[in-house]
Amino acid sequence: MRVRKAVILAAGLGTRMLPVTKVVPKELLPVVDTPAIQLVAEEAVRSGIQEIVLVISPGKTALLEHFKPAPELERALEEREKHELLELVRGATRLASITAVEQPKPLGLGHAVLQAKEAVGAEPFAVMLPDDIFDCDPPLLKRLLEIATAKDAPTVALLRVPRADVSKYGIVAATPEEEQIYKITQMVEKPSPENAPSELAIMGRYVLPPEIFGLLENAKPGVGGEIQLTDALMDLARRRPVYGYEYCGARYDLGDRLGFVTAQVAYALKRRELADNLRSKLRSLLDAA
Ligand code: UTP
Repeated sequence: MRVRKAVILAAGLGTRMLPVTKVVPKELLPVVDTPAIQLVAEEAVRSGIQEIVLVISPGKTALLEHFKPAPELERALEEREKHELLELVRGATRLASITAVEQPKPLGLGHAVLQAKEAVGAEPFAVMLPDDIFDCDPPLLKRLLEIATAKDAPTVALLRVPRADVSKYGIVAATPEEEQIYKITQMVEKPSPENAPSELAIMGRYVLPPEIFGLLENAKPGVGGEIQLTDALMDLARRRPVYGYEYCGARYDLGDRLGFVTAQVAYALKRRELADNLRSKLRSLLDAA
């Protein structure tokens, strides 16, 4: 299976991060100094993706702007001989071919994917949620693409979550096939802890076939007119095998306050220029708390 395109969903309201998301798209919020959407686009490119389609809402065009050249800023940095900063700014513009499609209203992940139907065409593609950040090398999407290719089947990322948290996620019933690889037999969106078929939650990376678009078009809208991606995935799993890869590394939910703050600290501790000072600042903060 050759996957060239990734669809990054970024048309949501980001209500859990209000008030900042009133004006600033959640996906532009940084991890230390790099917007989440850039980290995810970099993951896509490191996984072999050549074309990225952003799904944005009408008010979130700044997301696409981030990947376009900024001639005035670049000229100013050049004049000041800030070569490293110039490379940082230009880096985002050279990643891949990046285009955007609009989701006029936030009617769910399934509806968001459907907006990319024409841009994707009749080929398998990846879907990425930019508020889910996976800190691993090689990147998580690369691993999913390898499995999808080996099995010639749609593949999603799974993460084992505490049973008390299952109601926040889509949870699967699955049969282990190989180390960390499962065949998915059932999916339930946001089950109660008692009714959850497992503790394996679907995370924000998917490799999907183009037939998912037809299933999304036929999906019945649920609460608030939303079209869920999980429902279409379940339809898909009834027709052909769908696999899950259990990710065991670090994951940060940037769409949630605690996840956002934790990601800042974790990524800053990995930066040589920040780590020592941050460690001592954290120690004094903890002593004073
Ligand atoms: P989330 O459910 O985490 O984002 O969707 P949200 O709805 O924006 O956030 P809250 O719950 O109100 O705080 C994961 C990703 O999918 C996108 C979001 O932009 C986010 O990056 N999304 C969500 C869409 O593109 N369209 C939608 O209709 C819903």
